[in-house]
Amino acid sequence: MTIPKSIKYILLVIAVIASAIIIILFYNLNYKMYPLKADQSLYSQNIWEINIDSLSKKLLSQMSLEEKIDQMYGEKMYKSIPKFFGNFLLKQRFAHIYVGRNERLNIPPWVLSDGPRGARVLDKNISSVTTFPVAMARAASWNTELEYNVHDVISKEMRANKTNYAATPCINLLRHPGWGRAQETYGEDQWLLGKFGVAAVKGIEKNNVMACPKHFALNSIENSRWVLNVSLDERTLHEVYLPHFKKVIQDGKPASIMSAYNKVRGEYSGSNKELLTDILREDWGFKGFVSTDWMYGVYDGIKAIKAGLNVEMPWQDEYSYNIIREAISTNIIEEKEIDSLVITSLRTRLKYAFAYDSIDYNHKLILDKSHIDLARAVAEESMVLIKNKNILPFSKDKNLKIGVIGKLANTENTGDLGSSNSTPPYVITPYQGIKNYHKNKNNEVILDDGDNINSSIELAKKLDQVILVVGYTFEDEGEYVMSRGQMLKSAEANELVGIKGIGGDRIRLNLSDYDEKLINEISKVNKNLVVVYVGGSAIDMSKWEKNVPSILFSWYSGMEGGNALAKILYGDVNPSGKLPFTIAANPNDYPYFNPYTDSIYYGYYHGYSLFEKYNKEIAYPFGHGLSYSDFKYKNLEIKDISPEKKYIELSLDIKNNSQIEGKEIIQLYVGFENSNIDRPKKLLKGFKKVLLKPNEIKKINFEIEIDDLKYYDSSSKEWILEDITYKVLLGESSDNSKLLTSDFKIQF
Ligand code: BGC
Repeated sequence: MTIPKSIKYILLVIAVIASAIIIILFYNLNYKMYPLKADQSLYSQNIWEINIDSLSKKLLSQMSLEEKIDQMYGEKMYKSIPKFFGNFLLKQRFAHIYVGRNERLNIPPWVLSDGPRGARVLDKNISSVTTFPVAMARAASWNTELEYNVHDVISKEMRANKTNYAATPCINLLRHPGWGRAQETYGEDQWLLGKFGVAAVKGIEKNNVMACPKHFALNSIENSRWVLNVSLDERTLHEVYLPHFKKVIQDGKPASIMSAYNKVRGEYSGSNKELLTDILREDWGFKGFVSTDWMYGVYDGIKAIKAGLNVEMPWQDEYSYNIIREAISTNIIEEKEIDSLVITSLRTRLKYAFAYDSIDYNHKLILDKSHIDLARAVAEESMVLIKNKNILPFSKDKNLKIGVIGKLANTENTGDLGSSNSTPPYVITPYQGIKNYHKNKNNEVILDDGDNINSSIELAKKLDQVILVVGYTFEDEGEYVMSRGQMLKSAEANELVGIKGIGGDRIRLNLSDYDEKLINEISKVNKNLVVVYVGGSAIDMSKWEKNVPSILFSWYSGMEGGNALAKILYGDVNPSGKLPFTIAANPNDYPYFNPYTDSIYYGYYHGYSLFEKYNKEIAYPFGHGLSYSDFKYKNLEIKDISPEKKYIELSLDIKNNSQIEGKEIIQLYVGFENSNIDRPKKLLKGFKKVLLKPNEIKKINFEIEIDDLKYYDSSSKEWILEDITYKVLLGESSDNSKLLTSDFKIQF
């Protein structure tokens, strides 16, 4: 049979295209890796003693315009697109994208790894890393020392995976619990966000990894992030949405910051001069470099250059040779504007490439036992006991029948599958943790994945202890991976148009109908019950909360979560987490939230300040969390308000009034009820986590910085200290009835 010429031609074209695809994929799946540190053999002195400022200037002076532009984006599109998507789809691997490598001038590149809960980009010889509880869980520990240690481990493992730029911490404020990426951040309060952000940055940078807090700014809605415009007034911007960024920049001094996708007051964050230059550099003194979020991070290269954006990620698009050359030749920009962006990023990153490493960051570091122990310790400290009517800790008797029930009882569930994903070698599920705990204890641990509600009810009737595991997975919440086109269409229609993505914002705040029914039915037949909630943010519990005697928020608790859970349920670990957000009694009382819109207005109040302002009922307050111990607070004293000092000193006594050792999180709020302007009733301005032995009393000292009492005056653009009577409120949660109070005035 003879094949017609036209068919032969088509077959040939197909063969050529297929071979090209195979070659491209092969090349990109087995991509070359480059060293990130400067090559000592090229220098006659220790590299860490080289003056980076002069070196950067010298290197810049030797660069052609094209070489300068090469410092301003990730990789070239033709290389990075197949590499990125090829690895992602075919190998479920996040590729190393090399930025700013210049072979001629011996400039090493830098490589990003995400990292809110573990290193993200893996060396090709490594398949797993230590995976921690999500950031929201860690915030619930209120333990910034642990957060520092977590980031020390994450950044060590990043270095061992040949990356040196951490796209973390995420410090966007949780404005509404439905935000899909709530699990990646540290809650609703600016103070908590700032303190955790600083701890994270310092932990990362300890290993000469560049920290990159994100997403600057106002990224608190996921599903429309690529098309959304956030409007707000000047005071709200400075007092509510930026203070934590300012603290992280000024106290943490990260190498970099990542711009957000959304627009802020009409201008995309990546080309927003007010954000990137006026506020970040001029007001706050930021010396590092700004990179965009990945894809759709910048739409107008020239505007972005003028705004102060240093690097477009992950590939060259708007920072193209043509766009920049043309703008220079037509005098729209001057080459020195490019120089200034390049020298900033070069100077910053070379400090890390030439820094002294006190350890060898090799593969052996990954999953070290101390890292895994830390993952468990963090999970133990982060779980929050919400309610406990004499149920927990469960008895440790023998011959018990224990049921672990629910779809999530034996699900490996460490959080969403977006950029914050991390690959652990194993995950201890709730069931496995409880089973491990009872090994050799002569108790029967029964798993029931809750498929058949009637048989779960029958089982529950026979159990001595019921552990009901409910909540969410990556399907319900997380980073939203859909096309920008779909986001645009959805925003236009004000509802989801097209295919449902994975993760995204949570529209409904309650659990699935199934979980709610399971809880209500089982609670009717067995009262020795705990509901364990897995998720990243607040939920609406109104349909079942009153029917159950005890509730524990275990979050997405990382690779060791199940073991931590068992220890808490049986009292080997005394729970010590507290909520980093408010749980409303009525979900409609949270700020207006719409994941399918292209414009939204953020008002001044959110979180506990909103509930207090409008006297709205809450289910559980910000800062709430129970312990097996009983703590008593007394003797609040204001020690010194001398005008020459920059802070006010306070102290109080705390007593552990129980026979159980425990940790308590003492919270310090300042009240502004006497203000002459509209201000929150109170705001968190300090916290301490303290360990107390049975019956132990400790005197705890606090300081309030006077600068932290100021409000932002929009007309003068100044921070103003009011001459009023302030209130100090100290105690176990934001619930006013549980706080010791006293007044103070500043002596002007
Ligand atoms: C996310 C960022 C992340 C980046 C790189 C983006 O989609 O919004 O948070 O750092 O991807 O993975």
